[in-house]
Amino acid sequence: MRLKIAVLAGDGIGPEVTNEATHILKAVAELGGHDFTFVPLLIGGIAITEAGTPLPTATLDATLECDAALLGAVGDNKFNALSPDKRPEAGLLQIRQALGGFANLRPSIAYKALSASSPLLPEVTENVNILFVRELLGGLYFGEPRWWNKESDEAINTMRYTKAEVVRVARVAFELAAKRRGKVTSVDKANVLEVSQLWRATVTEVAKDYPSVTLEHQLVDSMAMHLMNIPRNFDVVLTENLFGDILSDEAGVITGSLGMLPSATLGGTVNLYEPVHGSAPDIAGTGKANPLGAILTAAMILRHSAGLEADAKAVEVAVHKVLDAGYRTSDIARGSAQTVSTQEMGKLVHQALTESIDRR
Ligand code: NAD
Ligand code: IPM
Ligand code: MN
Repeated sequence: MRLKIAVLAGDGIGPEVTNEATHILKAVAELGGHDFTFVPLLIGGIAITEAGTPLPTATLDATLECDAALLGAVGDNKFNALSPDKRPEAGLLQIRQALGGFANLRPSIAYKALSASSPLLPEVTENVNILFVRELLGGLYFGEPRWWNKESDEAINTMRYTKAEVVRVARVAFELAAKRRGKVTSVDKANVLEVSQLWRATVTEVAKDYPSVTLEHQLVDSMAMHLMNIPRNFDVVLTENLFGDILSDEAGVITGSLGMLPSATLGGTVNLYEPVHGSAPDIAGTGKANPLGAILTAAMILRHSAGLEADAKAVEVAVHKVLDAGYRTSDIARGSAQTVSTQEMGKLVHQALTESIDRR
């Protein structure tokens, strides 16, 4: 199996966690006799500093030549005063749009070993396994008009969706639900927003093609509450762009840390893989970053871009084993757990992976 992977490490803890994820991919390649190549590219704040723009043309061109893109995180406080179109985050939004992936899969799993890492009661998080399908190319993030000219006391963003945009992401959610527990929860604000009314009507129509899947609708405000109260009730959660951004971070509480959450964006010319968390300037450079979200993101590359399901599972099993053995980065450490650094955690997963693949 040959795979060329664009590595967009970005800012803050982005390079720290991406390093561990690429080590794991290299190990999988070595153990399985695959040919993976890695193409390091600039994006975000580091790209502004070194190339004058958050998404250099060279980065986009090279990424379009790759089979998959792995992104760490972008964002640096020193650019906070810039307008949204000039900030590091603009580079991420531009590359998402250019690659064209519209379905952002964000799994949120409660690991048994981490039940004490979540502030939620163990009986609340037990067996929780939710898959968020977040629409990634529409809504307030990309709707026009959008502006704030600094002299004015008014600013505008536009929440806009077309029916076609809702249909294509809804189909992804229903297809996935049919292979899981057969339930889609569609999240909107249809009691207030026209866009949500279009969303709800369209999802209801798409549901007719999937008789084996149950559809329920939830308003986003009560959904935020249900997610903490009875997360076990949810299987696939389908949402528009901003609601999905917010709810998926909230779901980090179920797992115990935002640093545990991976994601994959499908449907474009090149699939884009990124952990859910950001550049975490508060812990960058301290060795405290949890690399497991990025490592689980690497597993999603193996699954969705390489067709290596067994290897994807092996990486996930290795993560389970390391957690079961009691190793924790500081974000998930509680009580007498053995606290390890970003790099140590990466090495532990590598060891566990080598053992499980050798035994096959
Ligand atoms: P954040 O996700 O960077 O951090 C939120 C909190 O979670 C922080 O306390 C951080 O220390 C902790 N955290 C995050 N990832 C962790 C990990 N792997 N291990 C341990 N702890 C972790 O969100 P923020 O602080 O609101 O944003 C910081 C910057 O990141 C901003 O510039 C923002 O725009 C950017 N951002 C980028 C992405 C992305 O590139 N995909 C995603 C979210 C935020
Ligand atoms: C995420 C991030 C991004 C988003 C930002 C950094 C543009 O928060 O990937 O969740 O809002 O999509
Ligand atoms: Mn986010």
